[in-house]
Amino acid sequence: MSTQLSQRLSAAPVVPLIGENDASRAVKTARALADGGLSVIEVVLRSSDAQKGMEAILAETEGLIVGAGTVLTLGQAKSVVTSGAQFIVSPGLVDDIALYCIDEGIPFFPGTMTAGEVQRAYALGLREVKFFPASLAGGVPMLKAFSSVFREMRFMPTGGVSAGNLSEFLALPSVLACGGSWLTPKDAVAAGDYSQITNLAKEAVAIAQSSR
Ligand code: 3PG
Repeated sequence: MSTQLSQRLSAAPVVPLIGENDASRAVKTARALADGGLSVIEVVLRSSDAQKGMEAILAETEGLIVGAGTVLTLGQAKSVVTSGAQFIVSPGLVDDIALYCIDEGIPFFPGTMTAGEVQRAYALGLREVKFFPASLAGGVPMLKAFSSVFREMRFMPTGGVSAGNLSEFLALPSVLACGGSWLTPKDAVAAGDYSQITNLAKEAVAIAQSSR
């Protein structure tokens, strides 16, 4: 993982997901998150123009670290890296994306939820993985069990994380950061209520500070 990404995540270990298809709204959402203190942002590729939103955030904002999530194929990984993605997140572990990212020096967080998947990521040379879907995959007790055997691995729980359980995840030393969409509610984005997003980001930063 790059030093810059590592430093940002230690200062504010929360990665908000932006799932907006409209580039202008994606940029406003990213700015609202940054105003609330969250500057590492994952744009999920779940709609036709999501990548354009990521490109717009990269072009129109400063100081953010912007990655692409829900990257399912090597072709998508190459495409988002060409567009400037600074890290890649996948729901699962795909070897060709992992090897490409390692080669290119791009931080890659593949989703894992079993010991076998974590071990495969470890064997490929990865030391940071997503833990997905965190709440359904066993939550904090599962992470504690993983951490006792995978001592060098650090995890990014995502999927079912919220302001209500963030502190429990962040209290674990093996948790690098938590990811989630609770910071960017669809109704707030649709209504242009960006102050709500800033407030959610501030709340997450405050929870993170009191959990570590
Ligand atoms: C992901 O893409 O990591 C998850 O779908 C996010 O899950 P959440 O919506 O529960 O935060």
